[in-house]
Amino acid sequence: MEFYDVLEKRRTIRDFSPREVPDEVLNRILAASFKAPTNDHLRQFEFVVVRGQEHIARLVAPVAQNTEDIQQTYIQTATEWMDKDEHAMFVDALPKQQRMLMQSNCLVLPFFRQKDCPLCQPVDQSSLNYFASAWAAVENILLAATAEGLACAFRIPIGNEPKHVKRLVNAPEDYEFTYFLAIGYPAPDAHICKQKAICVEERIHRNAW
Ligand SMILES: Cc1cc2nc3c(=O)[nH]c(=O)nc-3n(C[C@H](O)[C@H](O)[C@H](O)COP(=O)(O)O)c2cc1C
Repeated sequence: MEFYDVLEKRRTIRDFSPREVPDEVLNRILAASFKAPTNDHLRQFEFVVVRGQEHIARLVAPVAQNTEDIQQTYIQTATEWMDKDEHAMFVDALPKQQRMLMQSNCLVLPFFRQKDCPLCQPVDQSSLNYFASAWAAVENILLAATAEGLACAFRIPIGNEPKHVKRLVNAPEDYEFTYFLAIGYPAPDAHICKQKAICVEERIHRNAW
């Protein structure tokens, strides 16, 4: 696929078919993460790949309850003040958070090494470089998956989720959990949220804002 077609085609898809993702395809996709820029040339990413409904269910166990809490306290009251496209996305995404992580039967748990400064106690912007590098790698993974004809959905862990995952997979103390990533073949009727209309010219400021 041509690069700009891949960019255009990459979308968050939260509905998967049962078709299994072959290991060699998954390896190519995860290898793409190491082609992204990283701070200090470290590339200290590690991935735990989890298959099998029982294993995945244990890892994502807190997701349903945590999401339910958000749904009740936040989204149901958000229609008046939330951006329309944002709201439509949440309405589709929130009920699918746990299901999407189970459905592809291929859950990837990316970790990055946080060498100094606890992740949630940065002293300045550059303390977040490890986190930022892990996020730069995300886009490479998503684009590689798209080029392979696969779909991805990810969830940012909230509340007790990072601790739960790190404990279950025995992650080393100095590695942080980045996000839950479901990779799979899209369901034939997979929902794709309406893309926001952006006028790029209006977003580019010449010499000063
Ligand atoms: C930092 C970040 C956090 C996100 N967190 C979640 C999440 O927890 N659950 C989810 O289903 N999607 C999550 N998304 C996906 C966004 O909802 C999605 O990218 C956005 O709606 C735009 O849609 P697109 O990816 O199809 O262009 C996240 C995306 C980013 C960049």
